[in-house]
Amino acid sequence: MAKKTSDALAGVRSALKAWTTPLLPDDYTGLLNPLWSTRELRGQIRSVTRHGNDTISLDVTPGWGVPVDFKPGQFIGIGVQVAGRYIWRSYSLTNVAGKGETFSVTVKAHQGGKLSEHLVETAQPGLNIRLAQPAGDFYLPEPLPEKLLFLAAGTGITPIVSMLRTLGETSPGHDAVLIYSARTRDDALFLEELEQIPGLSLHLQLTSEAGRVTPADIENIVPDFAERAAFACGPAEMLSALEQWWEGGVDKHYALRTERFTLDRTSDAVGGEITYGSRGSVVADGATTILEAAESIDIQLPYGCRMGICHTCVRQISDGNAHNLHTGEVHEAGSRIRTCVCVAHGDLTLDV
Ligand code: FES
Repeated sequence: MAKKTSDALAGVRSALKAWTTPLLPDDYTGLLNPLWSTRELRGQIRSVTRHGNDTISLDVTPGWGVPVDFKPGQFIGIGVQVAGRYIWRSYSLTNVAGKGETFSVTVKAHQGGKLSEHLVETAQPGLNIRLAQPAGDFYLPEPLPEKLLFLAAGTGITPIVSMLRTLGETSPGHDAVLIYSARTRDDALFLEELEQIPGLSLHLQLTSEAGRVTPADIENIVPDFAERAAFACGPAEMLSALEQWWEGGVDKHYALRTERFTLDRTSDAVGGEITYGSRGSVVADGATTILEAAESIDIQLPYGCRMGICHTCVRQISDGNAHNLHTGEVHEAGSRIRTCVCVAHGDLTLDV
């Protein structure tokens, strides 16, 4: 069905192109409605809700041709013009999946976060933005496992709130436990709503008073944890500790599924000398992306999301190997790679 829809949209796009040549279809459609574009996916901020000083929630109206179906827990790429160029980041969708009207995301400004700081300071209803279609493999499976366990810390609640909101609508009363860590009660997002979700047993851990949740805490709070399908999202250290715990001890019925907001830079990649065509070369370790290494010697390569989503940064390897920190794959000469998530695995030459 999704394939048929995208084929139909491609057909409409090419018909428009033929009809409007020599001008581009967007030259006409943009005059009628800024959300209509045959070239890119667009959206418009419909409302902005502030949570304290540093966090906002945005409701976004998707423009023409944006695939509105998503699975609860997936993310969306958002591109916003900042100082004349588009900056892309991805954010977890927080609204109920399957309604097809709106995308909602929550953005917390973090220091040095170009897009998050910009949005928290300036986002207003009516702002036109670019979108990448919903993606990600962290979502509620179908059919639903009988018992669910959610582990979230800080803004790691954002993909999980979409799962819980969807669960509340489609399967109210489903057996689910949420252990949610926030520094203080005021820092806990969506709290009043979470307390109302039928069937959800909520344990709020205020880390300023009780410290971080440990595996021993989880075993006490949820004695049948090993029978539950578990989903975790939060800081990288928390997720690594949870993965280690889930692997050991008693047998678990399900794998633990995790969602990381930051690139995990631990890998077998050995680094090496990266040569950017005739523009220069630099030695980088196995944790520095090819894009970052270029920037360290003032070579500007194109980029968008810097998270492996938008493909703006794709370049071809002429010689050598690159390691993909997202997938663990090793790419060889001739491969086209996303420089924002790949590192050198030995000496490498890139076609730039
Ligand atoms: S910058 Fe978006 S995929 Fe690399």
